Amino acid sequence: MRRGGPSWLSMTEMTEQAPVTQATATKVAALPDAQTVTSVQHYTDRLFAFRVTRPQSLRFRSGEFVMIGLIGDNGKPLLRAYSIASPSWDDELEFYSIKVPDGPLTSKLQHIQPGDEIILRPKPVGTLVHDALLPGKRIYFFSTGTGFAPFASLLRDPQTYEDYDEVIITHTCREVAELTYGRELIESIRNDELLTELIGEENLAKLRYYPTTTREESPKMGRITTLIETGELFTDLGVPPLDPAHDRAMICGSLAFNIDVKALLEKAGLREGANSDPKEFVVEKAFVGDGI
Ligand SMILES: Cc1cc2nc3c(=O)[nH]c(=O)nc-3n(C[C@H](O)[C@H](O)[C@H](O)COP(=O)(O)OP(=O)(O)OC[C@H]3O[C@@H](n4cnc5c(N)ncnc54)[C@H](O)[C@@H]3O)c2cc1C
Ligand SMILES: NC(=O)c1ccc[n+]([C@@H]2O[C@H](COP(=O)([O-])OP(=O)(O)OC[C@H]3O[C@@H](n4cnc5c(N)ncnc54)[C@H](OP(=O)(O)O)[C@@H]3O)[C@@H](O)[C@H]2O)c1
Repeated sequence: MRRGGPSWLSMTEMTEQAPVTQATATKVAALPDAQTVTSVQHYTDRLFAFRVTRPQSLRFRSGEFVMIGLIGDNGKPLLRAYSIASPSWDDELEFYSIKVPDGPLTSKLQHIQPGDEIILRPKPVGTLVHDALLPGKRIYFFSTGTGFAPFASLLRDPQTYEDYDEVIITHTCREVAELTYGRELIESIRNDELLTELIGEENLAKLRYYPTTTREESPKMGRITTLIETGELFTDLGVPPLDPAHDRAMICGSLAFNIDVKALLEKAGLREGANSDPKEFVVEKAFVGDGI
């Protein structure tokens, strides 16, 4: 299948970055799970996205994550969990990543360039999948920071629009620039010919994008938890309050975020589901730890 994705796919001009060291790149090439980087886009000094070749045998469900990484200083694979941000039909894999200044993996990973190789263990898993939810009318994707990544996959999956009448994605970041990847992704879904054709124009009308910031001024400010509690989210979107009979949700952010959103959903009567026991909402951590 032809691929579809953000505008930077065709970009050849990359932000000037130091290349991955020779030792790192060549050692990876010797591994069976090596994949080649095809494009890189930097958004802020803390965020970037990249695409790699997809192993022919890799099958995954939109929303799942895999282990990816590089060879560490000790010569052994240094792997971390990463949500696949591209949809399951795409012929490449896309990832949306943090840059932790002294992070064991991302202090190196942020320097990858097209042609470099990374390690990708082809064993996708995760809870943010359609199978873990009971049928419903409206789906909410609640995200902060890089927690947008699994939803970048699900939002490009036609099944999302076939399963629901309304698809609402909320993305909250501290600053406006941190929303860019998500905003461009939504724009590409609405304007990219391939994606429009694949998802269907009538289905795209179901998509509602609700970005908010908490520290830098923007048209909509506030934590999504506050906006749920005050009812502002529902008023803004012109939808009724949360109702377990119709509403389904997926949550992806920091542990504190996940706990707080989960409590609000449970207060509204929604129950947490799993692959083996589908219910009204599912949760996954966007990262482990609460401080850099
Ligand atoms: C299921 C799952 C899926 C994940 N998917 C992604 C993804 O799609 N994109 C991504 O960038 N990361 C994702 N992560 C986090 C990722 O696994 C690594 O933690 C991250 O790449 C940093 O690696 P590191 O070795 O540089 O630092 P680490 O030692 O792993 O982390 C150092 C510290 O940085 C902070 N941190 C780590 N990751 C993030 C983040 N994403 N956002 C904000 N702060 C963070 C935490 O405070 C952490 O304690 C995911 C984690 C889990 C558990
Ligand atoms: N983003 C940055 O510019 C920045 C820069 C340097 C270091 N860091 C560090 O990086 C780590 C991750 O930062 P991050 O910005 O990616 O993620 P984050 O701290 O989880 O914040 C992302 C967004 O989620 C909101 N949020 C956090 N906890 C929430 C909760 N319990 N309920 C509802 N909303 C919640 C935040 O609002 P609030 O703003 O109200 O918290 C923010 O808008 C943090 O430890 C931070 O100290 C971040």
